Amino acid sequence: MPFDSETASLAVPPTIEVQDLWLRYRSSQEATLKRTLVGMTQRRKVTRYVEALRGVSFTVQRGSVCGVIGRNGAGKSTLFRTICGILTPSEGRVVVRGHVTPLFSLGIGFNRELTGRENVLLGGLAMGLAPEEVQEQYQAIVAFAELADAIDYPMRTYSSGMSARLGFAVAVHLDPEIVLIDEALAAGDARFKKKSSDKISELCERDCTVMIITHGVRIISSLADRCLWLDKGRVMAEGPAPDVVDAYLRFEGVLDEATAAEDM
Ligand SMILES: Nc1ncnc2c1ncn2[C@@H]1O[C@H](COP(=O)(O)OP(=O)(O)O)[C@@H](O)[C@H]1O
Ligand SMILES: [Mg+2]
Repeated sequence: MPFDSETASLAVPPTIEVQDLWLRYRSSQEATLKRTLVGMTQRRKVTRYVEALRGVSFTVQRGSVCGVIGRNGAGKSTLFRTICGILTPSEGRVVVRGHVTPLFSLGIGFNRELTGRENVLLGGLAMGLAPEEVQEQYQAIVAFAELADAIDYPMRTYSSGMSARLGFAVAVHLDPEIVLIDEALAAGDARFKKKSSDKISELCERDCTVMIITHGVRIISSLADRCLWLDKGRVMAEGPAPDVVDAYLRFEGVLDEATAAEDM
């Protein structure tokens, strides 16, 4: 979808605005091994700091798709958790204008003991919809997820692909404002990925804003307007998706794009 960020930014403020964001994890670990080795009796803690995000700045305009790429451990999921409000910035600023629907690889907080049907209803309520609104969309959600009879079985009996399909179906049918997708579609098959990316394009035509983390760089090139490339917590590049994907693949020395474009 063509997107003119310059004109749009003059008209409306960005939906997501991240300014000089730093995120430091603090984790402590008892020095058990060392204690054992030297026969120490005192309890000693080793505190470790990880700077997962180092001065990240970017904006995402309403109705656009922003892809996020980078190696494992680059800080992508940390960025999403901060945008959702699960993590508080150590420094910097995150402004989100609208309601965020997170779609992470573990689904949208499904209860595995409940059936797919019960989870759809609860998921809709959790997204702030009235029961009637959820009921209205129920058939469309179930049809999109293609779960047939399994919809009435407990979700603990679902494969990861089935859970991911249902999570995506719920999130995209309940008129979301901002959707964050963290590798949530990796478990889906090729046909479902195609159907999902068509659905994402359709959402953006209705002014929904989407950020998507994926190792499937091919899908970013075709679906996203902009792309953010993170490496060791820093922004390596931000710009038109095909350019950033190209720069990333060249940097990684991946000549055959297909080998890096396995999953969405
Ligand atoms: N809860 C945590 N506690 C401490 N360090 C963490 C935690 N979560 C992630 N990290 C570290 O932060 C860095 C970024 O992780 P993450 O955001 O998950 O990267 P990505 O999603 O790009 O693979 C990594 O070095 C990771 O080990
Ligand atoms: Mg991650």
